[in-house]
Amino acid sequence: MATIGFIGTGSMGSALARAAAKGPWEKIWLANRTRAKAEKLAAEIGGEVTDNRTAAAKADFLVFGVEPAELPEVIAEVRDVLDGRENKAVAVSMAAGVELARLRACLGEAAPVVRIMPNIPAAVGAGVILYTAAPTVTEAQLSVFLRGMAAAGTCVAMEEGRMKAATGVTGCGPAFAALFAEALADGAVACGVPRAEAKKLAALTLLGSAKMLLDAPMDPEGLKDLVCSPGGSTIQGVRALENGAFRAAVIEAVIATFEKKF
Ligand SMILES: NC(=O)c1ccc[n+]([C@@H]2O[C@H](COP(=O)([O-])OP(=O)(O)OC[C@H]3O[C@@H](n4cnc5c(N)ncnc54)[C@H](OP(=O)(O)O)[C@@H]3O)[C@@H](O)[C@H]2O)c1
Repeated sequence: MATIGFIGTGSMGSALARAAAKGPWEKIWLANRTRAKAEKLAAEIGGEVTDNRTAAAKADFLVFGVEPAELPEVIAEVRDVLDGRENKAVAVSMAAGVELARLRACLGEAAPVVRIMPNIPAAVGAGVILYTAAPTVTEAQLSVFLRGMAAAGTCVAMEEGRMKAATGVTGCGPAFAALFAEALADGAVACGVPRAEAKKLAALTLLGSAKMLLDAPMDPEGLKDLVCSPGGSTIQGVRALENGAFRAAVIEAVIATFEKKF
């Protein structure tokens, strides 16, 4: 099996490194500007702490987990190391809004590059990882990478032109789902359920509902209809949500993320 290195072990870099540690990687390299952060992670998952240039020299797959604004500088720091390697490393970027063309302009047109867009549930193995690869990445390389990241969640191939739109659901969706969970819990609290219990019930309900949509499988309308007995209480709740323009608000939220300029 191959090795993987992470440059930037912040929220998302560390989430993916944790998943990688459950995968078949031979070795995991961890580099971070604040070294103590990488050291703490290494103590937890068993990787080896190193610096950016060493990670670039050694890892077969090099994951950049830094902020988009910092990415060109970090690539510039390791570019000569990557260029000098006989066995080219596959560069993996998770930087929001940074397209393959820009990555290839920074890394060199011949460089094998994969662009991914993970979401935060990757931290618990339930993420969605959208990915698109440059033609310089071989099928074999891509398959090693996907196998190695399977513990992060579900990897979904995404045509790059749709990446931004899909990210409005996968990347931003956890925040929207969290707002909904919070509101569900608030409603339960208003009706007398203790806060801690209300939060747990709301989260479990979202989990179970998502599972039915995926495993049953059924479409959202089918699930809603299953719960809304004629003359029952749920349809009254649906009426209240419709009065509050709930669905329109959610649609607008996804469009707002799509229209945001980087
Ligand atoms: N968070 C999400 O839900 C999410 C979702 C999809 C994609 N992403 C993408 O993931 C990337 C990271 O986001 P994040 O939320 O994880 O940010 P973050 O928590 O701020 O992590 C960024 C990490 O990069 C490190 N870093 C910065 N400059 C560095 C350098 N020169 N060399 C080595 N390490 C360096 C930082 O180190 P310090 O400890 O010194 O600050 C920090 O640990 C971004 O490109 C973002 O677009 C994030």
